[in-house]
Amino acid sequence: PESLRVALLGCGTVGTEVVRLVTSLGPELTSRVGAPLELSGIAVRDPDAARDPVVPRDLLTTDAESLATGADLVIELMGGIEPARSLVLAALRSGASVVTGNKALLAAHGPELYEAADAAGVDLAFEAAVAGAVPVVRGVRESLAGDRITRVLGIVNGTTNYVLDEMTTTGEGFDVALGRAQDLGYAEADPTEDVEGLDAAAKAAILASLAFHTRVSMSDVVVEGIRDITVDDVDAATRAGFVIKLLAVAERRRGRRDGIAVRVNPVLLPVSHPLSSVHGAFNAVYVEAEAAGQLMFYGPGAGGAPTAAAVLGDVVVAARRRVLGGRAPVESAHAALPMLGPDEV
Ligand code: NDP
Ligand code: HSE
Repeated sequence: PESLRVALLGCGTVGTEVVRLVTSLGPELTSRVGAPLELSGIAVRDPDAARDPVVPRDLLTTDAESLATGADLVIELMGGIEPARSLVLAALRSGASVVTGNKALLAAHGPELYEAADAAGVDLAFEAAVAGAVPVVRGVRESLAGDRITRVLGIVNGTTNYVLDEMTTTGEGFDVALGRAQDLGYAEADPTEDVEGLDAAAKAAILASLAFHTRVSMSDVVVEGIRDITVDDVDAATRAGFVIKLLAVAERRRGRRDGIAVRVNPVLLPVSHPLSSVHGAFNAVYVEAEAAGQLMFYGPGAGGAPTAAAVLGDVVVAARRRVLGGRAPVESAHAALPMLGPDEV
């Protein structure tokens, strides 16, 4: 079968790991998709910058627009609003499927992008935009589509969870812990987004839109970040048997006026609370639904490799849909490994 041309826009922390996965899993991905995935180009700001050797230098370009409109599938990992918005729109209008991890873009311009994808009849997938490797977007958008969700609550920003956790467990200062979160590839290009709660608010808006089948944007979210939390605050909380966590909450409210309330703010949790034991850059999201009851989604919420895994998951699903001509993808019939016999199990 003909290969699918995959354009990568952005090759930083996450994009580099996407290249590594595509390179190392090549034949397996071909078998899962039903056609080879061919990286057709990689758009960056500075093609001469030092990069991981896994990145093929001959694919680097600054002409993101030509790349975005000449591919079957576009992966947007540049971040920010522009030029990401224009490039994603151009890619969708050209008939390409798009996979993005850009929550800031989705929270600000989601409806415009979803409409463009619908009009072109192509996929716009964004599992990586909320909680890194944790499949909460698919869970809320697809698995619970036949239920009525009442509340979504959790830790959705790895950087702030890492910073608060380090301050609690090592007594390290805020800025030192934040510097390490940046070095580990958890933070946004501008870490103010994390620290001020804006990244979590964007994710809360996306989750609330999916959970309540409505349009929630950043401006609907009440936000308070963790910038003012000191080691003394964290110590005082620990002595009293609590942990400070930055929580995002989106819920259906009934009362004087029925509606949706969405907020992000630091909260004191008793150490016995399950969310208190979410450490480092891990995320955890509780979803409460009328029929299903309470579900928890948990795992690595930030970082290059975990996020790249979520991106590649979306790529495989979108690519298979293109190969299968619109049919929902089913499990690949090509077994990569033999079954072990009873004496080996
Ligand atoms: P980085 O800042 O590490 O990488 C950004 C990449 O985009 C760089 O390669 C940069 O080029 C390129 N780029 C930026 N602006 C332009 C432009 N105008 N034209 C061409 N190329 C451009 O970001 P991350 O990899 O950390 O994040 C990418 C996206 O994924 C963001 O939307 C982020 O919110 C999201 N995300 C990140 C996670 C993480 O843990 N890091 C987790 C989940 C989502 P150059 O290399 O030349 O500077
Ligand atoms: N900066 C984000 C975080 C990346 O720390 O959670 C993952 O979305």
